[in-house]
Amino acid sequence: MTRHFNTETFRGDYTYHNSPEAIRRFPFPFDQDSYTYSVNIAPHPGGPAGSTFEFAFDVDEHYVAEMQDRAITLAEDPNRCQSLPHMELAGWDLLELIMVSKARDYPDLFTLNRDGDQWHWINRPLGIEQRFAFLDPATLPFGPLEYITRQTQGDFALLHERDRNLWLDAGMITSQADWSLDFDVGMNFFEWHAPVPKARQMGVFDKALKFLLAVDQQQAYRRLNWTMTVNPRLDTSPENYHKWGPEKRSITPQNVGQKQFLRVELQTFWRLPRSNALAFPIRCYLCCLEDLCTNPEWARRLHLVLRDIDPVLADYKGFAVNQKTIVEYLANRQVPLA
Ligand code: HEM
Repeated sequence: MTRHFNTETFRGDYTYHNSPEAIRRFPFPFDQDSYTYSVNIAPHPGGPAGSTFEFAFDVDEHYVAEMQDRAITLAEDPNRCQSLPHMELAGWDLLELIMVSKARDYPDLFTLNRDGDQWHWINRPLGIEQRFAFLDPATLPFGPLEYITRQTQGDFALLHERDRNLWLDAGMITSQADWSLDFDVGMNFFEWHAPVPKARQMGVFDKALKFLLAVDQQQAYRRLNWTMTVNPRLDTSPENYHKWGPEKRSITPQNVGQKQFLRVELQTFWRLPRSNALAFPIRCYLCCLEDLCTNPEWARRLHLVLRDIDPVLADYKGFAVNQKTIVEYLANRQVPLA
């Protein structure tokens, strides 16, 4: 477990970087040499010590910088955090889940003392100490969802369950792969997934929803999703497309290794106790091609996946414009495997 927090940026001069340890534990998402959509869901947490799956909410060297980046995004656009009135209880459920998990898993970084509804929370990396009354919003500086997700890496969607469907009725979304909470809020599972090509016809969403409706409080689950991002930018939102979209045109054979990032989302699913809502954290990990290629097996597999991927998926994921340059770079980085 790391105790060092990087000083780095996810915009402007883009000083984001991964240590050798962060590269080693990067959640490489491919378990075969080809890729298509599937319901790739597994129990969570649980994984080798030191892996990104070990704990409920992974805290790594990017923690402090990611929270600073979220604060900048929220200052520019408060609509990145929204909660419909009936979701406040789900926000408290999420706050409890995160505080209890982090205090248990990282006792040197976080402490939670509870005396009835009087709670005392200490977050050492961010220098926060807060006494508050659980379920009393007047005792926190923000609503419960916003308060705790300003201190937790990853985006968060809170889904309300009704009519055998899930409704995106609250969220903190500042590091999304080109979708908008402000646009999707209030939509159901099939509505917000409507832009995804092929998956509905393949039956992926019917199966996924059926699974999610059956998730209970005893067991959480996870899945990995991925895309490609030029520059280590967390806020690739439609709202700010004018800032990051043109950067896709800056890729050359000379800079692709450093500027092209594989963006992996560790998505988890939690049934919440009081509200019966489903929490859906989406944790983003970024790793540039050059760093990925320090692992010859990853270089080999990524080359095959990106070379042979369905052009419709390459287009939807937004990297078709640079696919040839990426694939040529990876082809030139192949070394014989031991
Ligand atoms: C994409 C939300 C669960 C599969 C997306 C998008 C959103 C989203 C907002 C982007 C759609 C767009 O282009 O505007 C959610 C939420 C979930 C959830 C809130 C929690 C309930 C799942 C599950 C699956 C899944 C369980 C399982 C198969 C996909 C796929 C894509 C997608 C395949 C396309 C991703 C890509 O190609 O990069 N999801 N999703 N989602 N989702 Fe979900």
